[in-house]
Amino acid sequence: MAEFTESRHGMWSNRWLFILAATGSAVGLGNIWKFPYITGENGGGAFVLIYLICIAVIGIPIMLAEVTIGRMGRLSPYGTMLSLGQKFGGTKYWSILGGVGAVTGITILSFYAVIGGWVLYYVFRLLLGEFNGADSEFVEGAFTSFVGSWWQVAGWFTLFMVITTSIVARGVEKGLEIAVKWTMPFLFILLLVVLVYGIFEGGFGRAVSFMFTVDFSVLKPSSILEAMGHAFFTLSLGMGAIMIYGAYVPSDVSLRGTVYIVAAADTVVALVAGLAVFSIAYAYSLDPAGGVGLLFQTTTLAFGNLPLGSFFGFLFFLTVSFATLTSAISLTEPIITWIVEATNASRARVSILIGIVVWVLGLGSVFSFNIWSDFHLVEGKTIFDFLDYLTQAWLFPVGGLLIGIFAGFFLPKSALGEQWGISEGWKLTIWTLLIGVVAPICVLIVFAGEIGVISLVAE
Ligand code: PFF
Repeated sequence: MAEFTESRHGMWSNRWLFILAATGSAVGLGNIWKFPYITGENGGGAFVLIYLICIAVIGIPIMLAEVTIGRMGRLSPYGTMLSLGQKFGGTKYWSILGGVGAVTGITILSFYAVIGGWVLYYVFRLLLGEFNGADSEFVEGAFTSFVGSWWQVAGWFTLFMVITTSIVARGVEKGLEIAVKWTMPFLFILLLVVLVYGIFEGGFGRAVSFMFTVDFSVLKPSSILEAMGHAFFTLSLGMGAIMIYGAYVPSDVSLRGTVYIVAAADTVVALVAGLAVFSIAYAYSLDPAGGVGLLFQTTTLAFGNLPLGSFFGFLFFLTVSFATLTSAISLTEPIITWIVEATNASRARVSILIGIVVWVLGLGSVFSFNIWSDFHLVEGKTIFDFLDYLTQAWLFPVGGLLIGIFAGFFLPKSALGEQWGISEGWKLTIWTLLIGVVAPICVLIVFAGEIGVISLVAE
């Protein structure tokens, strides 16, 4: 049973606000920028299928576990795991999960905000109409010369961090509702504009077949781990972001229904973004496996050649930057609430401190694309690549696995039933099993495949 009926950090005033905030956290660069390019790098259909399975079998149960734990504890993820861990798990060490998650959040933000800076740069360039009539060579050149310039990347990254920090300092409820309510529909419509353009340019058929023809022989051994990690990343799971948003959910809101809506919205945006990006990539003979620049190159090609394209392109990148911001905000929430609880310092001060730490950390990722591009932390991975890999492929899934086990095995079934509005019976048993057993086992199987204990793909 919940010890607190309200969180000291704030509350969503209604169910919609929670759905909007959680969707705002989930839908971001992961869907629009990352999903298309990693799908391209991992050969398409088979990767997409594994990703969708991971969303359904691992993502949805773990998301439910996270919001439930959050609402039961009503504190920062660290505080919640400490109090529920002591009460139901018999040890204070569950709090480590909250602590590691909080640090993971700012580590991610350090490179996420760098890409956020790229998006801001594109807002600006489209505003100036600089892609009018662009061809593939032009958009590729524009991207490469921008990321190659450390001071430009650093400048836009700094701007992104200043904006994020000033919003976070004021508290999450304010602003988030308006931002998400307006951003999501616009973002979706503009993605459809890009998609329709791609259809007219003739790349749609190949995009569909690339994304939905399942051919396991093209799958790399590492693709399964990447697909699973991405499922966690895209739903903001495994590090406490959704847990802290769960802490602000009023007691009478149905958690299961909201989780479905968030997961569905997130998946649809990713699939539409993928189709739009690949349609244009095929229509203009860009390489689908072209990497981190794919979104920027394809969309500017579309907007550069559409009537009123600069205006729509400007709006597109503006909405992408809002979507990025609403995700960035949620990445800071676990650590900020933790420090506020531990020190009683003001939220504003803590936010500024965190902003500065993230900025310093982020310089490593800024330079990964230019002056330090030859500096590899581990085999072939720049600082950016390494942080991305470490957090997404390992830290999120481990976090999610432990969250599932904690919720499924340590929280009393009756308390879970109360949270989900279901009384004892098969429904409760199934959900508890999905969370505590099925999802963790799937994560372990993928890990076992990655470290070579079992073989999941033909090599
Ligand atoms: N889900 C976000 C995206 O897909 O862009 C990224 C993210 C946000 C991951 C918040 C984790 C998180 F806690």
